[in-house]
Amino acid sequence: MFKKEVTVYSPATVANMVCGFDILGFALDGPYDRLTIRLTTERGVSIRNFDDFNLPVEPEQNVIGGALLAMLQVLEEGIGFEVDSTKIIKPGSGIGSSAASAAGAVVAANFLLNNRFSKLELVGFAMYGEKVASGVKHADNIAPAIYGGVTLIRSTDPLDIISIPSPRLFVTVLHPLIEVKTSSAREILKKEIPLKDAAVQWGNVAGLIAGLMKNDYELIGRSLVDIIIEPVRSILIPGYYEVKNCGLAAGALGGGISGSGPSVFMLSRDIETAKKVELAIISEYRKVGIAFETHVSEINYQGIKIVIH
Ligand code: HSE
Repeated sequence: MFKKEVTVYSPATVANMVCGFDILGFALDGPYDRLTIRLTTERGVSIRNFDDFNLPVEPEQNVIGGALLAMLQVLEEGIGFEVDSTKIIKPGSGIGSSAASAAGAVVAANFLLNNRFSKLELVGFAMYGEKVASGVKHADNIAPAIYGGVTLIRSTDPLDIISIPSPRLFVTVLHPLIEVKTSSAREILKKEIPLKDAAVQWGNVAGLIAGLMKNDYELIGRSLVDIIIEPVRSILIPGYYEVKNCGLAAGALGGGISGSGPSVFMLSRDIETAKKVELAIISEYRKVGIAFETHVSEINYQGIKIVIH
């Protein structure tokens, strides 16, 4: 017997985690998108939006549709999905808006199908949603939304995802209210990098993973360095270095661009520092003259929350 309907809360996520372009990400404890999904007996996906973002409802053009159509490819006849989507996470904000939709949809659908798919398989389906959004099947927002915590995407083909244990970390996010499309933020990146820069970058990735696993906050902090992507993408974010420097001065361990931006995030070892960082960033960003929002949350180790009706 299948359950007929379920609601999930799918969290914002931070991809890249500074030095780990396309391979590292973590989930936030809010904001969340809400999706309610019903099983139908008619093959296909129908989507209704309950927000003001005017996202397309045609399944082929919608990240939810892209993800669920991929799942339907391997399901028997006589199964379809109706989705009610209420987005809170703004598209183009850099905190995994498309991933929240795609990952939330496949987790909810899987629940209705008595959890027949593994988390790894769900990431595989949800990546088709990312492809609809940005043309690229990156998994560094999808995987942390589904697994919770910090995740390493060692490989996307074949998919290989590793949950990385970490000490408690608190996140301050600045979201300037401008839109940066992931596809555009990828187009401007250099396609080749000098070997010496690659060595610096993978030293930092290894240092960050070691720091997380050893609960070594100092090592985490000094590994949050990106010499490849940040110099290029920071030009898309007015006031970027000012914000980052004032976050560091307020006591953050480190930080950088969240995903492809424009959001910026800073990590702190306790909530008091994360709130201090937020106040410092608010006062700094007021000078820039762009409207913005801020969020403070702990890294979310649970990922998507399922609400049973
Ligand atoms: N890794 C992706 C990128 C994340 O940086 O383009 C997009 O959210």
